[in-house]
Amino acid sequence: MSSLHKILDVELGNKSYPIYIGSKLLSNKSYLENHISGKQVMIITNSTIAPLYLDKVKKLLEKFIVEVTILPDGEKYKTLETTKTIFDALLEAQFDRSATLIALGGGVIGDITGFAAASYQRGINFIQIPTTLLSQVDSSVGGKTGVNHELGKNMIGAFHQPEAVIIDVDTLETLNDREFSAGMAEVIKYGFLGNIGFLAMLEKNIDAIMSRDKNLIIEAVYQSCEDKAKVVAEDEFEKGKRALLNLGHTFGHGIENVLGYGTYLHGEAISIGMYMAAKLSELEGHLKLEDVERVKNILIKAKLPTSIDGKVTSEELIKAMSIDKKAIDGNIRLVLLQNLGDSYLSDDYSSDNFYQVISIFSK
Ligand code: NAD
Ligand code: GLY
Repeated sequence: MSSLHKILDVELGNKSYPIYIGSKLLSNKSYLENHISGKQVMIITNSTIAPLYLDKVKKLLEKFIVEVTILPDGEKYKTLETTKTIFDALLEAQFDRSATLIALGGGVIGDITGFAAASYQRGINFIQIPTTLLSQVDSSVGGKTGVNHELGKNMIGAFHQPEAVIIDVDTLETLNDREFSAGMAEVIKYGFLGNIGFLAMLEKNIDAIMSRDKNLIIEAVYQSCEDKAKVVAEDEFEKGKRALLNLGHTFGHGIENVLGYGTYLHGEAISIGMYMAAKLSELEGHLKLEDVERVKNILIKAKLPTSIDGKVTSEELIKAMSIDKKAIDGNIRLVLLQNLGDSYLSDDYSSDNFYQVISIFSK
């Protein structure tokens, strides 16, 4: 028996697709079957997730020709070399353009699989089964796919929308607390950047969510996906509004870059970055001090960092932020907060205020 709690649609004309959110979804064949048009299916997963969920997913696909590619686990394998192993497997299995790829895993698996689907024989279908909180509320929705290059993260990729996203929150039962918190950074982000009601709901329920109350998690995942789906529907290719989803990311990427990727999980770096963005928004005269405290408090309750633990100098941080892909003509474009729940993009904030924030957070 499966229990579907919610369905959302990402409205993109003939590329629209559903997001199914609930518990026990991986016990029901219909979610997958309804979105696979050919006979050939390849599940892409990794060595950590395969022992946990591969058999369960394979069982749903008995009427298809199913191949499996198990990748090594880790961001360092989000590369073109790894993508080639998927192409090799697809060609060896003589999969044609009617094939469907299934991404079973976190954001790394989702991004690589989506990119392989975007490029194999000029584009085939894929379905996302995200298994981390971060991938359930962010990376599986919206069609950004890609891999890293040694000169930059996510530098090779394509926009390619999935046929469906199947979010079974039961998969989070095996996710460790640190990864869960990292996902919560992205959940809380939606509250800060555009949804004050959601922020209030999270503040009220944060302890229960951190204790893994399933109904509240479903509600939080639903609300996050709904907010993201709205933005993606308005601005699929990030010509404008979609960039607001990067609240805290330019600061966060700078921190990740200076300390070395992997020191902080992405969500942890984004947590510090969001707090820095809130501080700058206060210095710019928008947020009140109590708003900035609200930002800090909920991040701390979600067991996320709000200061940099490690040696990062101002110069290093500014340099790393300037080469982040959101910098245009040398100006660092940032997402700032007009109010809690109301964000905007800016590259004309006071540089004194910016340097002040950098100096507060660096050593
Ligand atoms: P991840 O995919 O590396 O997963 C984190 C860890 O959890 C891995 O070790 C993974 O094997 C393990 N794991 C996954 N599901 C599990 C489960 N249910 N139980 C136990 N362990 C499990 O990391 P992530 O945080 O999911 O994703 C980060 C990636 O997502 C980055 O590469 C980032 O660039 C990308 N991303 C993409 C977008 C987008 O829009 N495409 C948005 C945000 C992030
Ligand atoms: N993670 C930001 C986006 O999908 O646009």
